[in-house]
Amino acid sequence: MKIARGCGAVSGRSPEVFRAMESLEVRSDDIILAGYPKSGTNWVGQILSDLVAIFEKKTQNKESSVNDEELEEFPYLEIGDTGKYERMNKLPSPRVIFTHLLPENLPKSIFKNKAKILLLIRNPKDVATSFYHFSNGMSPLPSYETWDDFFIAFMTKKMPWGCYFEYLSEWNKYADDENVMTITYEELKKNPVLGVENIAAFLGISLTEKELQSVVERSSFQSMKKNAQKTHGAFGNVLFRKGGISDWKNLFSEDQNEKMDKAFEEHIGGTKLGIKLKYEVYCKA
Ligand code: A3P
Repeated sequence: MKIARGCGAVSGRSPEVFRAMESLEVRSDDIILAGYPKSGTNWVGQILSDLVAIFEKKTQNKESSVNDEELEEFPYLEIGDTGKYERMNKLPSPRVIFTHLLPENLPKSIFKNKAKILLLIRNPKDVATSFYHFSNGMSPLPSYETWDDFFIAFMTKKMPWGCYFEYLSEWNKYADDENVMTITYEELKKNPVLGVENIAAFLGISLTEKELQSVVERSSFQSMKKNAQKTHGAFGNVLFRKGGISDWKNLFSEDQNEKMDKAFEEHIGGTKLGIKLKYEVYCKA
């Protein structure tokens, strides 16, 4: 399946779509990219797209689809019409599927058939910061007069796709499953070569040094931002904003820092995902 580019901002999550979603027959070789909005889905999606293209070229002697921008199916599971899942059932393997949903809302066959799930997480302060700028730049999403208004909405579960903390604590229940690999935005940013190697190993895809370098180069923030107009059209500029760590320091007040620190500790502090996020490193001033 070719991966269509997109921002995932417009939700088509009607009850009919959810009902239709159950007809999706998830396969054991499907790759599910799960992440709360603004955790870097488009970035990791680019990496997966290239890895799958390399895999297909090697194993099926198929021409690389690396430069093919043809949209076969919008990659976000929950965004689309009710006919989407029947069409997806006809797509060849391996399919790459993005989702912002909680595990309990996913088609049961994902877990039954042990599809590989790559769980992408990012520190909550940078997620909130990114979400704020994104909401104000994307007309289908609610916009906020001030950062303070946004912060209240973020902390009181008023976000499209739900609450960040609930998302992490629900996914934490699956963090030890053998078919689930967790990666953080921050670790990928700090060491993209190692990050891509780990993702490839999890998917069972072997890479030459040259292939590895090319996947890393093509998924760098600079490369993706440069291509944004082509890959994401008008959304490109809003989506590829800063691409870094700690931009939250430009927005959070002392009081907001305290509130976020407390909520983090309460909801996910000691959990496997909470520890993996290295909150002390990335979220303390
Ligand atoms: P910022 O708003 O902090 O810049 P998503 O794809 O889940 O919507 O996440 C968007 C966030 O990922 C944005 O964060 C965006 O800049 C960042 N991002 C996108 N591509 C990236 C890349 N190649 N490297 C690092 N960050 C990237």
